[in-house]
Amino acid sequence: MTNWISIAIDAVYVVAVLIFILGLKALSSPETARRGIVYAGIAMLVAVAVTFFSFVDMNLALTIPVENLGLIFLGVALGGFGGYYWARVVKMTEMPQMVAMFNGMGGGAAAAIAAVELLSTLSDKVTGGLSVAGAIIGSISIAGSMIAFLKLQGWMPSKAIVLPARQFVNTGILIVGVACGVLLLVTSSLFWMLPFFVLLLAYGILLTIPIGGADMPVVISLFNALTGIAVALDGFALVNGPLGDAGYAMVIAGTLVGASGSLLTLLMAKAMNRSVGNVFFSAFGAVEETGVTMKGSMKPIEASDVAVMMAYANQVIIAPGYGMAVAQAQGKVKELADLLEAKGVTVKFAIHPVAGRMPGHMNVLLAEAGISYDKLFDRDEINAEFANTDVVLVIGANDVVNPAAHRQGSPLQGMPILDVELAKNVIVNKRGQGKGFAGIENDLFYRDNCHMLYGDAATAIGKLVTALKQS
Ligand code: TAP
Repeated sequence: MTNWISIAIDAVYVVAVLIFILGLKALSSPETARRGIVYAGIAMLVAVAVTFFSFVDMNLALTIPVENLGLIFLGVALGGFGGYYWARVVKMTEMPQMVAMFNGMGGGAAAAIAAVELLSTLSDKVTGGLSVAGAIIGSISIAGSMIAFLKLQGWMPSKAIVLPARQFVNTGILIVGVACGVLLLVTSSLFWMLPFFVLLLAYGILLTIPIGGADMPVVISLFNALTGIAVALDGFALVNGPLGDAGYAMVIAGTLVGASGSLLTLLMAKAMNRSVGNVFFSAFGAVEETGVTMKGSMKPIEASDVAVMMAYANQVIIAPGYGMAVAQAQGKVKELADLLEAKGVTVKFAIHPVAGRMPGHMNVLLAEAGISYDKLFDRDEINAEFANTDVVLVIGANDVVNPAAHRQGSPLQGMPILDVELAKNVIVNKRGQGKGFAGIENDLFYRDNCHMLYGDAATAIGKLVTALKQS
C-alpha cells in the first residue's frame, strides 16, 4: 500500500478518535448524553468503515482472500442488525441486562482476537504476551458479564451463591489458567490453548456467582472497564501486523473505555459505601438477616388524604426509584410537582446514585419529563433536609430508602441511603408488599410516620394529581 492511502487511513482514525472523545465528554451530563451516544456511534461507524480500506492496494485489488471479506461482512451484518434490533425492543428497565450482554460481547471479541493473534504470532513473544494478557482479561469479562446478565434477567438467582472454599478454588483456577497462558507463550505449543481459555472462562463465572444482585452496578461497570483494557491490549498486539493502524484505534478506544469504566466502578462502589475488593470477594448478601421482626404495621392511605397533606406543606421532597421507571410515571410526577409549586409548596427531588437499574436512571427519566436539573439533589446534598421536611413522597423506591442500612448485622449495613425516615411524614407509593432489589425487608414502611399509597406509580400519582386539582 502506498503511503498516501496509509496516511489517509490514519487521518480518518484520528478523526474517529476525536469524535469518540467528544461523545464521551457529552455523556457526562444527562442534557447532552443523547448527543454523546450519537457521536460515539458515528465514530465507531467511521472507524469500522475505514478499516476496509486497509484490505485494498493502490489498484483497488484485495489484499486478503475474498472469502475472508465475506465472513467480515457477515459478522458486521449479524452484529449490526442484532444490536440495532435489541436496542430498539429493550425496555428502559432492562437496560442493565443489555449493557451486561453487549459488554460481554466486547470481552468475547477481545478474547477471540487475542486467540487469532496467538494462533498466528506465537513466535513473537511481545505480541504473544500482549495477546495472552488480552485473552485473560477478555475471557474473564465475557464469562462474568454473562453471569451478570443471567442474574439481572432473573434467569439465575440474583442472591449471592457461595460455594465451599471458593476463595481457595477460585485463586487456584486463576493461577493455573494464567500458568497455561505462560506455557503457551514459552513453549509455543497450542496444546495449552484450550485449558488456558476454559480455566479463565471458569474463573470469570466463579468470580461473579457469589456476588449479590444489589452489587451488580459495580460488577457491570468493572467488567466494562476490563473489556476496554482487553481491547487496548489487543490493539497493541495488532499494531505490528498488517492492520497496524486499526490497532492504534483499538488502543485509544479501549483505553477510553477502560479509564471511564474504572472511574464509574469507583463511583458506584462509593455510592454503595463498599470497596471494589469487598464487592468481589465478600459474598455480600449471601447471608439472610435473621431474628429481625418488623414492629408496627404498614398503614394504607388514600390519595385524597395525601393531596391535603401535601397542599399544606412548606416543602415536599420526592424520592423516586425503580418503580417509577417501570410505571413510566415521570410525566405524572412532573404534573404533581407543577401543581404543588403553583400552590406555593417547595418541591425538591432526592436522587440516590443507584436508584433504578442504571447509573443516572432517575436523572434521565426526570429530564425526559421536563423537570429542571436545579430541582434534583443528590444524597449528600439533600440528606440534611429530610428532618425539616413536612412530606417525603417515595415513588417505587425501596433499597435506597431502607433504614436497615443503619442497623448492625443487616445485609445492607453501611450502604448510604436517603434518610427519608427523618421527615415528619413519609408517603410510600408501591404496588404491594414486594421487597426491593436486594430482597431485604424495609422497616421504613412500618414506622409511625410512614403511610402506604398503594398502586402502580402512574395510576397512584395520577389519582394524587386529580385530588390536588380538586383540593
Ligand atoms: P428497588 O429496591 O428495586 O425497589 C423498587 C420497588 O418498587 C419495589 O419494592 C416494588 O415494590 C416497587 N415497584 C415495582 N413496580 C412498581 C410500579 N409499577 N409502581 C410502583 N411501585 C413499583 O428500587 P430502588 O430503591 O430504586 O433501588 C435500586 C436497587 O437496584 C438497588 O438495590 C441497586 O443496588 C440495584 N441496582 C441498581 C442499578 C443502578 S446502577 N441503578 C443497577 C442494578 C441494580 P412492589 O412490588 O410492592 O410494587
